[in-house]
Amino acid sequence: MSDLLDLERRALDELQACGDEPALRVWNTKFFGDSGEVRQALAGIGKVPKDQRAAFGKEANRVKEGLSAAFDAALAAEKDRAIERSLTHDVFDVTLPGRGVECGRLHPATQTLREIYAIFADMGFQVFRSREVEDDLTNFELLNMPPHHPARDMWDTFHTTTPGVLLRTHTSPGQIHVMRQSAPQPIRAILPGMCYRFEQISTRSEIMFHQVEGLAVGANITMADLKGTVQAFARRLFGQERRIRIRSSYFPFTEPSIEVDVEWPLVDEDAIRMTKGTGWLEIMGAGMVHPVVLRNGGYDPAEFSGFAFGMGPQRIAMLRHGIDDIRQFWRNDLRFLRQF
Ligand code: DAH
Repeated sequence: MSDLLDLERRALDELQACGDEPALRVWNTKFFGDSGEVRQALAGIGKVPKDQRAAFGKEANRVKEGLSAAFDAALAAEKDRAIERSLTHDVFDVTLPGRGVECGRLHPATQTLREIYAIFADMGFQVFRSREVEDDLTNFELLNMPPHHPARDMWDTFHTTTPGVLLRTHTSPGQIHVMRQSAPQPIRAILPGMCYRFEQISTRSEIMFHQVEGLAVGANITMADLKGTVQAFARRLFGQERRIRIRSSYFPFTEPSIEVDVEWPLVDEDAIRMTKGTGWLEIMGAGMVHPVVLRNGGYDPAEFSGFAFGMGPQRIAMLRHGIDDIRQFWRNDLRFLRQF
């Protein structure tokens, strides 16, 4: 019994003398480790005469619990002291400027796309996403271009090794998808996304580029609606005074087909180059949706009509920012991208 009390006193004294956390850990191993003194003392119960065992056991437990609690308290107090020490001694200069967080920004193409979405959203157009890997059927046939139709030459195509599967050459096949999902409800949608063409890369054309397709289908939609929509769009994007010009054109999926130019005053070198000196910049192809296309989308052309357009937002971005090389868009050169 007196050994126990001795152990208790010694352990408490040594605990008191511990000046830091490592010392406390050493103390803990010494008394509570696998072959620590406390365990050994408890094992000593075998040598205690039978009639004193109960009392010894009780006392041994009291000592053990007491030491264990004293250790926990000492450790907690030491941790508090350590925090206190780091706050008062390891002072650091809060007035030092911090390390700057580098902030990225949206890609100029994304910025332009978002502006376009906002303008069309105000006119009630929803954004509809459509796949970039298409089949020949949707990219061409359902858009009124059967196999070997000469108009297919307008789109130099990347074919995959799977027959009939290709990279879409324009966003127009999205018209078929949105119509088939919506018929017979009316539609007002824009379909933005990447298109691919097997073309010679130059400052003016890339093998991948964005298009924004537009589609409106409903009862009594006329060319006047198309003109009004395009005019409103051009005014929002380029300013209230900006005029547009409409020329007749040909696309297999529209009848009649048009191309729309926006006036671009020849105020600087960029304007002259981009408009080839004409003062007009072509921004989109458009037209009234061909009856065959309406039918392929699930709409009866006797009841429904519609208009569609397709534009290249990168050309718009190039003009507005004076970008003279379309290849800059996907070059990932930060010196270029940081300017926007
Ligand atoms: N898909 C055409 C192209 O890539 C652009 C286009 C023209 C889209 C007329 C249309 C449209 O929706 O009606 O050149």
